[in-house]
Amino acid sequence: MSRSIRACTFLDKGGTGKTTTAAHLGVALAERGNDVLLIDLAGKQGDLVKHFGRWETVERQIAEDDDWPNISTVFQDQWGAIAEKLGDAAVDDLILETDEGVDLIPAHPGLDSLDAELGNIDDAHDRYSRLDSFLDEYIEPLGYDAVLIDLPGLTNNVSYNGLWAARNVIAPVEMGPFESEQAEALRADLDKIGANFDVDVKLAMVLPNKVDTRTKLAEEYLDAFEEAYPEAFVSSHVPVSQDIRNAAESGRTAFALEEPSTTAERAREAFLENAETLVERLDESERAAPAGGELA
Ligand SMILES: Nc1ncnc2c1ncn2[C@@H]1O[C@H](COP(=O)(O)OP(=O)(O)O)[C@@H](O)[C@H]1O
Ligand SMILES: [Mg+2]
Repeated sequence: MSRSIRACTFLDKGGTGKTTTAAHLGVALAERGNDVLLIDLAGKQGDLVKHFGRWETVERQIAEDDDWPNISTVFQDQWGAIAEKLGDAAVDDLILETDEGVDLIPAHPGLDSLDAELGNIDDAHDRYSRLDSFLDEYIEPLGYDAVLIDLPGLTNNVSYNGLWAARNVIAPVEMGPFESEQAEALRADLDKIGANFDVDVKLAMVLPNKVDTRTKLAEEYLDAFEEAYPEAFVSSHVPVSQDIRNAAESGRTAFALEEPSTTAERAREAFLENAETLVERLDESERAAPAGGELA
């Protein structure tokens, strides 16, 4: 069985479309025949699960159930021992099925204190690699083709765990005068991680979102991004679409709209194209970095 491809949506800024992108790229990957798992490390209010109309279910679980297991507990010292006792049920309980063809591990209020809890772990490798270990040990055996992690719009111990586990970053960017600085800061951040720890986190995709091509400036921003990120930039940008906002509010992605507007249609095409690009890029980078000692 081959390893799942992993990526996270990340930019140290709110509102650029990270959660929207995780949801739509996830569904696009599923439409292309992949088994997809989405993991929400971002949404305090369960942003990602809201795209799939399951927020009430999750809210009820949070209110009623004893809290265990949830996404924040997989970072804890006792996770291994308890998971062993519960067997497969421990991981099964974390995963929710959606009716858009993707599985999802929803966010949990326990994520709020997780940054501080991780900060108490002295050993940096241990502090940043907990999610990676969890994915390796508990998620890989499930055989997903792709795992997409939605991260908060800030750099903290939780997002470092996501970056470390995913190794590949999808950065949705908006068109504006300061947006390229944000992406530049991201690249510097990734380089720093690479230099400090022995992990190579790649900027796999710079994805222009909320693009309004009716404005002249949008074209200029697109060109500037392409020039700044020749490898990561994708030319099939996502248009600004009121339908995307409306779909999210009614618990769907744009893929589930029965009568999509022209912009929603274009957004779907862009996500489908970018899903294919993502798979190609991640496959290539896997091949470019074979496991140690395997070179012929
Ligand atoms: N292409 C788009 N067209 C219109 N609205 C969008 C688009 N992408 C995202 N949005 C809206 O912008 C807001 C922020 O998006 P979100 O994905 O939550 O950003 P982030 O996760 O980066 O904070 C949401 O209300 C979302 O519905
Ligand atoms: Mg978000």
